[in-house]
Amino acid sequence: MAFSDYQFEIYLQGLSGVMPNLPMTFEEWEANAEAAMPPSVYSYVAGGAGDERTQRVNRTAFDGYGLVPRMMRATRDRDLSVELFGLSLPSPVFMAPIGVIGICGQDGHGDLVTARAAAQTGVPMVVSTLTEDPIEDVAAEFGETPGFFQLYTPTDRDLAASFVQRAEAAGYKGIIVTLDTWVPGWRPRDLSTSNFPQLRGKCLSNYLSDPVFRAGLAQSPEENMQAAILKWVSLFGNPLTWEDLPWLRSLTTLPLILKGICHPDDARRAADGGVDGIYVSTHGGRQANGGLPAIDCLPGVVEAAGGLPVLFDSGIRNGADIVKALALGATAVGIGRPYAYGLALGGQAGVVHVLRSLLAEADLIMAVDGYPTLADLTPDTLRRVG
Ligand SMILES: Cc1cc2nc3c(=O)[nH]c(=O)nc-3n(C[C@H](O)[C@H](O)[C@H](O)COP(=O)(O)O)c2cc1C
Repeated sequence: MAFSDYQFEIYLQGLSGVMPNLPMTFEEWEANAEAAMPPSVYSYVAGGAGDERTQRVNRTAFDGYGLVPRMMRATRDRDLSVELFGLSLPSPVFMAPIGVIGICGQDGHGDLVTARAAAQTGVPMVVSTLTEDPIEDVAAEFGETPGFFQLYTPTDRDLAASFVQRAEAAGYKGIIVTLDTWVPGWRPRDLSTSNFPQLRGKCLSNYLSDPVFRAGLAQSPEENMQAAILKWVSLFGNPLTWEDLPWLRSLTTLPLILKGICHPDDARRAADGGVDGIYVSTHGGRQANGGLPAIDCLPGVVEAAGGLPVLFDSGIRNGADIVKALALGATAVGIGRPYAYGLALGGQAGVVHVLRSLLAEADLIMAVDGYPTLADLTPDTLRRVG
């Protein structure tokens, strides 16, 4: 089945009077999610750092590129499949880690629900260190779809090792280390309501269930949650330097990917340090305001990565954005906020709808514009506009 078939499914259902019960665009997903989510969760997901300029330019920078249509190259058989870290994936799209996805859904088990959507669509989920359900339980919902674990490296190296070992044992296919969030960015929306979910005990299940974390507590979290939260505060953020890379590398034989790389020199240094992939991201503009659009950082990093796979996220809102990121050299493209809103609106079906909509649009753009395979998408297929 082609990803584009989703549109016929929708039109055909319309013939028997069945209209889509979820909207079709990011703007509507976001607006409806605002009405569906508790205000504190919506503000945490929608907000970013400072006056949210980085977040805005992440998005608007995509408008600075246009795909050049090529005719008489039409084909019904398009191929969006990709090989990534030895895995064969049906599309170059994955779900970026969202630490509060557990509380974005109606049932409080958004990690599990998202994992089921991964199983249903074949779109891999990157599972955050910050989940409502432990990573083992999340992995159990993946079905045949591979999953990745995103590590927020704690200050305690034994705890870091324990997380990685647990991810390996649970069958995760790669470890993504996020580098840009050892300290939270300045987020006025959340500050104005003193809103930080983890300090209220949310999304800490991987810590609370971890033998190393528990061994460091005088009382169990069940007896004294406040003490467990304070312990989490003391352990969460590790200001990593390049000197830590050999140690990170030694933690696992799984593919190791560094997230948050935007400078070519950093990409080169990561490659020299033996990583298996580079992940370009500005964390959706949530961490440092006044920054560059992530998409503008992508080509330089791709060039410096020396052939390593380059993952990309920040600002993907529709199928055209996916195609542009691929054309600029991304091996795989991460969806962030859109699937969180899908989850809030429709649970598993909502996430599936968002993913299928984005993939259908990307597939149709490749069809109409005469770029039937991923290999056809190169920087030459884009022009700068405006
Ligand atoms: C609510 C929220 C929570 C996030 N939590 C994490 C996380 O736990 N780990 C991580 O590496 N990135 C996290 N991110 C960043 C995403 O992985 C991704 O980089 C970002 O959402 C991309 O920006 P976009 O959603 O605007 O496209 C989070 C993003 C959001 C919106």
